[in-house]
Amino acid sequence: MAQSKNDKIKQLLAEQPSGFSLAQSFYKDADIYQTEIDNLFLKHWLYAGHLSQLAKAGDYFTFEFDSESVIVLLTASGDVKAHMNVCRHRGSKICLTSSGNQKSLTCPYHAWSYNLDGELISARNMPEDFEPAENGLHQVKVELLGGLIFVCLHDNPPSLSALRRDLSPCIPLFGLNSMKLAAHKSYVIPANWKLAVENYQECYHCAPSHQEFAKVHAMAKSPQVFKTAKDKFKQANQGNPKFATFDCYFDLAEDGQEGYQYDRNPLLRHAVSGSADGKAVAPLLGAITEYDGGASELMIGPLSYFLIYDDYMVAYRFLPRSIDECVCDVSWFVNKRAIEGKDYQLEQLTWLWDVTTQADKTIIMNNQKGVDSRFYQPGRLSEMETFQQSFLNWYLQALVK
Ligand code: FES
Ligand SMILES: [Fe+2]
Repeated sequence: MAQSKNDKIKQLLAEQPSGFSLAQSFYKDADIYQTEIDNLFLKHWLYAGHLSQLAKAGDYFTFEFDSESVIVLLTASGDVKAHMNVCRHRGSKICLTSSGNQKSLTCPYHAWSYNLDGELISARNMPEDFEPAENGLHQVKVELLGGLIFVCLHDNPPSLSALRRDLSPCIPLFGLNSMKLAAHKSYVIPANWKLAVENYQECYHCAPSHQEFAKVHAMAKSPQVFKTAKDKFKQANQGNPKFATFDCYFDLAEDGQEGYQYDRNPLLRHAVSGSADGKAVAPLLGAITEYDGGASELMIGPLSYFLIYDDYMVAYRFLPRSIDECVCDVSWFVNKRAIEGKDYQLEQLTWLWDVTTQADKTIIMNNQKGVDSRFYQPGRLSEMETFQQSFLNWYLQALVK
């Protein structure tokens, strides 16, 4: 008798050795991919965008992964709402461009029209017993963390209460709600999405692959050198609110709570920001009053990452398009009062993480090519891949939840 999908996944989980990269099936098996979409992407909070992208009523942007598309918009009453981008008539996609402004949402197929709250307001020539009130757009859960907009496509999302409690000092400090989106780039990577996340989670590859990053980040050094630098950095910054770290990682999140983590790491001695020469590239963020030579790493949910220098923030997210293609979306944020061309230059601001992400794209692509081989087998992880191991621990648990 053929093995059921659940039994196959359970067997793969049971056989996966801890401290090793994943077995090939996790990157290649269609049932695994479908289960990831159902249990990870549909059940967790995903970073969709920032409030600064919705300046006036009717402004919208779409957020997409796998075969899903969500419209995130600002309603006439000033609320951020999210609707599935799927017409309730025969299912056409409604918003076909990735951002814009609309007074109402009209389907391009047969012109059913919805207001910004998602209610159906016009549908021509329908039978008498048709109920417009029962044909509104499917609503998606939305939460704001400072200006960061998160969506969850599940009716029962994990709680964000623990995260909100721990994150609240960071919101005014880094000005999460007083930033603006300065630049955005999407990097399409012909690889399974996990190879992209795993690559982001470890700095074992930083020294050989990211000379530019390694010039300003102490993290690219050996674990011993980095630990010494970090201990010294924390010692020198006692009382600095940027070091009010909380201790919770994805795989350690309480039951029912979304996972998150925050940490602040030292840059190299001469550097105060992530730039070509380590010098600042934009005015200070939020309530920060001075450079301390560090950068904060904030992870919210399993798939959304924020790297916060004193003068700018980079938001990273990794979204699958299919089993063997993903998108790495990178957004650069600056203080909302900063003026482009005067207070910051886009090229300087985006240089480091553009060059680094381009290099990562090549690494991840090559990783997939090797993982596709009949000769690939799980390899032993190094001491510099502990975050990757934490992600894998979380992933393996979440896959069957
Ligand atoms: S599918 Fe949208 S109006 Fe027909
Ligand atoms: Fe990298």
